[in-house]
Amino acid sequence: MNKQLVTDYNNLNEILDETRKVASNHLTKLHELPPGRFIEDIKFKNLPDKGIGALQVLRYFKKEYASQLANSAGPRYFGFVTGGSTPAALVGDWLVSAYDQNACGSNDSIAPQIERQTIHFFKQLFGLDDEYFGSFVSGATISNMVSLAIARQWAGEQIGIDVSEEGVSSVSNVQVVSATNHSSTVKSLAVLGIGRKAMIKIDTLPDREAIDVDKFEKFLSEYHSDPINVNPLILIANAGTVNTVDFDDLIAIGKLREKYKFWLHVDAAFGGFAAVSKKYEHLMSGINHADSITIDAHKWLNVPYDAAMQFTRHKKLQLKVFQNSAAYLGDPDKSPDFFHYTPENSRRFRALPSWMTLMAYGKEGYQEIVERNCDCAKQLANWIETSTKFVLLSPVRMNVVCFTFNEPHVSMGKIQTYLAKVRDDGRVFFTQTMYKGTPAIRAAISNWQTETKDIAITIEALTEL
Ligand SMILES: Cc1ncc(COP(=O)(O)O)c(C=O)c1O
Repeated sequence: MNKQLVTDYNNLNEILDETRKVASNHLTKLHELPPGRFIEDIKFKNLPDKGIGALQVLRYFKKEYASQLANSAGPRYFGFVTGGSTPAALVGDWLVSAYDQNACGSNDSIAPQIERQTIHFFKQLFGLDDEYFGSFVSGATISNMVSLAIARQWAGEQIGIDVSEEGVSSVSNVQVVSATNHSSTVKSLAVLGIGRKAMIKIDTLPDREAIDVDKFEKFLSEYHSDPINVNPLILIANAGTVNTVDFDDLIAIGKLREKYKFWLHVDAAFGGFAAVSKKYEHLMSGINHADSITIDAHKWLNVPYDAAMQFTRHKKLQLKVFQNSAAYLGDPDKSPDFFHYTPENSRRFRALPSWMTLMAYGKEGYQEIVERNCDCAKQLANWIETSTKFVLLSPVRMNVVCFTFNEPHVSMGKIQTYLAKVRDDGRVFFTQTMYKGTPAIRAAISNWQTETKDIAITIEALTEL
């Protein structure tokens, strides 16, 4: 065995102790460290012929790079929709690497069963019918992609074609509609060969990002009355849009399915967590009409990257798309194994951090995080309403505050310059957006540690800058 490997194996306890110190040193400073940082391009170094061993490389990493990482797990990182990692989730994630399971097959490990158990917890957490089949993927983008791949298989079936066998060219006219879909769904259409142009936008309600259901019904009646347009239709509905956390009316959309045929996919990447709170659960009413659902774990569940769930009522269609036939992998029709249902063959045991955190904090714990984050968003919005410098672009429904400068014709350049200044100040981090044509700032509050005092610091920074 390579000498360095032998040394490291013999020093494993020391290496792990020092790693724990580096990690806990970082984790105890999450409240102080600047959330985002400006980083210049690094100059690449040459690959060493002779390795330096785990302890030395750990020290090198700590000295050269660690202080330049984003403090995105901290309480005032409000960019994108970013969760941190609860203590229990972190324990789970560390152990995933220590045990290094391949959570695909069921012949040698309990890992896939823990994944099924975790999916069962999630169905209870989100109020999903027991009939849904669920699995873990690496993020909401891939969950949307898997969902739309199953939808594409359904679309083929509507016209007597097995797309998984015949190829996507056999269903060239699949139509996709949405009101305010996340960009990852369009990316998925490109990956799946359905094409970005297959997307038709339906109008939203006035001053909203939610679909105008009457207009959608009008679209459906015209679409179905046109004999040329008998093409299968997929609706991508939203349970929590990125800018304003708006929700499509899933009950009304579900009712339309009694009259018209279409696949209903719901992107509930973070909005799905409305279901954990009595205050917000009405927003998720009707979710069980969905054929497929996307919910992220690395956002509001606060588990480390990368983890999301994909749910579907059409397990057989999923099997048709993702089955991985090989003698050594068993008969797909009989096997429950995940490599017949998900894009990957070998898979990280990414259910474990979710299982740990759900066991550790339960539904009550998540209700508290979601409600506290939403209260923090309201606290910030209330201040913006009284400010002369900023203006809210939308009421705050849950955990995202979308605002801009209180002046005419704000440019994206001005927003970017300001956000860079805010980042370099080091107290808070936001990302830019465009809301109905207006360049804007988004604060998405989804970290388990964010509290009222963090919003006070945020307001102080915004006031000073
Ligand atoms: C509604 C929605 N869908 C999908 C995504 C993509 O998620 P991921 O970055 O996990 O792929 C996001 C990310 O912010 C989102 O907010």
